[in-house]
Amino acid sequence: MTAREAVETLLAGRPRTPAVPFAESYAPANIALAKYWGKRDEALNLPTASSLSISLGDLGSHVRLAPAPEGAPTDTITLNGAPLSPDTPFARRASAYFDLFRPSPSFRFDLQARNTIPTAAGFASSASGFAALAKAADALFGWNLPRQSLSILARLGSGSAARSLADGFVEWHAGERSDGMDSFATPLPDRWPALRIGACVLSSAEKPVGSRDGMRRSVRTCPFYSSWPDLVARDIATLHDAIAARDIALLGATAESNCLAMHSLMMATRPPILYFLPETLTAIRAVWAARADGLPVWFTMDAGPNLKLLFESSSESSVRALFPTATIVSPFA
Ligand code: DP6
Repeated sequence: MTAREAVETLLAGRPRTPAVPFAESYAPANIALAKYWGKRDEALNLPTASSLSISLGDLGSHVRLAPAPEGAPTDTITLNGAPLSPDTPFARRASAYFDLFRPSPSFRFDLQARNTIPTAAGFASSASGFAALAKAADALFGWNLPRQSLSILARLGSGSAARSLADGFVEWHAGERSDGMDSFATPLPDRWPALRIGACVLSSAEKPVGSRDGMRRSVRTCPFYSSWPDLVARDIATLHDAIAARDIALLGATAESNCLAMHSLMMATRPPILYFLPETLTAIRAVWAARADGLPVWFTMDAGPNLKLLFESSSESSVRALFPTATIVSPFA
């Protein structure tokens, strides 16, 4: 099935022309505690395993979506106030996403996107961006899709966007169907006001390998990729226990181990994918040394060299002293 066919299934019987002049929406960024690394269907961003994340509150993406003026030759796209040329990676990805529900081949969209994620914080904005776009399209066309369908629509833009439709802890169920209609994310009811995430930017250099290519390579060539889905399933079960008990040691240890397992998959991929920089190892050793000295702090990392720290409010001043430039987020504020 193509992504366009999946959208046809989702929108069956719903309006295909704009219902209002424009629509605005917001979605938060998210950090996975049990990671998504590998697809069973690349066209539909269907994962080989479920994943579990925490949304980042008011760090995310605001979008305003409208029809572009009649006769516009391309979609018009503005990011953080600056008009983008149609051949920039962001504009290309957005236009390809619009193709999934463009009312006619000559219809053009006007998109104004603004990220509240400090660029220097090193959080990915594609998850919040596509989740906000899915919500804005829903409002512009008056589809009134249920949250599960919105999660599917966001997933077709970027897998991790499926998890950015809700605040707090969110679980993306891998699903089994080939059309992906059972692969969507649902929020967990648990709140954990003392939880903190610290973003440590160690390098803002361009990623050597993007997630899309990296995942494809790992699924095809990592000799122990087949052990990943079971490992993630066990980690998700443990994370549920940790969240229910507000047990930061269990949450931190599970997320840290899951992230290192994902990076092991990456390193054992051929050719290898290594996101670690010397600074990454130094920071990891600093976290481990602080923990050995009694500070309850753990880390996770995505497809890049930067660390995200996991701790509780009671450790915030010590974490700040250790990593003075970290951006600290309160996901339940
Ligand atoms: C390492 O969602 O960016 O951050 O589906 O190809 O758009 P695509 O990939 P993307 O991958 C995120 C990978 C990760 C782990 C995670 O967020 O679960």
